[in-house]
Amino acid sequence: MAITGRPKVSVIGGGHVGSTLAMRIAEAALADVLLVDIVEGMPQGKTLDLSESRPVVLNDVTISGTNDYADIAGSDIVITTAGVPRKPGMSRDDLVEINSKIAASIAGNIKKYAADAFIIQVANPLDAITYVISEITQVPKNKIMGMAGVLDSARYRYFIASALGVSVKDVQGIVLGGHGDTMVPLPRFTWVGGAPLPDVMPAEQIEAIVERTRKGGAEIVGLLKTGSAYYAPSAGAFEMAKAIIKDEKRILPVAAHLNGEYGISGLFVGVPAVLGKNGIEKIWQLPLSESELTALRDSAQHVKALVDKVNELGIL
Ligand code: NAI
Ligand code: 2OP
Repeated sequence: MAITGRPKVSVIGGGHVGSTLAMRIAEAALADVLLVDIVEGMPQGKTLDLSESRPVVLNDVTISGTNDYADIAGSDIVITTAGVPRKPGMSRDDLVEINSKIAASIAGNIKKYAADAFIIQVANPLDAITYVISEITQVPKNKIMGMAGVLDSARYRYFIASALGVSVKDVQGIVLGGHGDTMVPLPRFTWVGGAPLPDVMPAEQIEAIVERTRKGGAEIVGLLKTGSAYYAPSAGAFEMAKAIIKDEKRILPVAAHLNGEYGISGLFVGVPAVLGKNGIEKIWQLPLSESELTALRDSAQHVKALVDKVNELGIL
């Protein structure tokens, strides 16, 4: 808790995702925000700019920037977005070595200065970097989670709503698994205005949307050419932080540490979880079919291969 009495969220990495997320948190007055980056002056400049918008957006949250990790002390939540984004032609997995090293140094600082904070991890490859930060900080497993499922599910729901010409508010759906090409959108657990998706959309169209969702990150990278998505990703991390701070008990797809749930153990993989004031309060068990379970476990195997690579780097 910050001295203002409001919750304190530290966002590590003041780049595209981090600074957009800081803005979302500040504009919703969810918490005081601290933006941390290694680039001198940048987090200070961005947060001064954000602070100067306060008289217009009319709230009094404190928004500050720093290059000093000691300032994250007292954080209720630390959100890690520091890392290199991919360029066209790269997969998220190509970032594993460089982003694991960045994550290891950040995790050391979280352990030193904010060991009691919840951690929402965003950098890619998502599930493997969450493992790095978990191994180094050793925070309880209910307090650390990766953000990707909320983003992947949002893309999936947006594509469905657009195709059917209905409000995004009336499309419920979920994407599980690792944050990569093996992610598992679940049409059988997708509803449009109360109707199961397979009843209101032809199978070929559903398959095309599933495929577009799997490639959703690459589609944006291909258009931007110099980096990856940040508006929808920051919205995803914001929704998770809000669920914890406001004890909302939302069921959101997050990369959670599994201990036998869905037949997976010892890995961070995207599954639905109840998020509230205790972080991950429960892993939500969906009655998956054999083929859905197989797809989820195959995706977990892909995460495991990346975790094996991380273990070979000698940074843990
Ligand atoms: P960016 O390049 O705009 O920002 C990254 C920032 O991290 C830079 O400002 C850099 O100076 C900073 N940084 C590097 N090392 C640091 C350290 N040790 N401490 C503090 N800051 C440090 O990149 P962007 O677009 O913000 O993406 C960040 C990461 O998030 C990438 O790895 C990207 O792939 C990932 N990402 C993940 C998503 C997900 O769904 N999980 C969605 C979107 C992006
Ligand atoms: C995305 O899916 C880059 O992982 C990020 O947009």
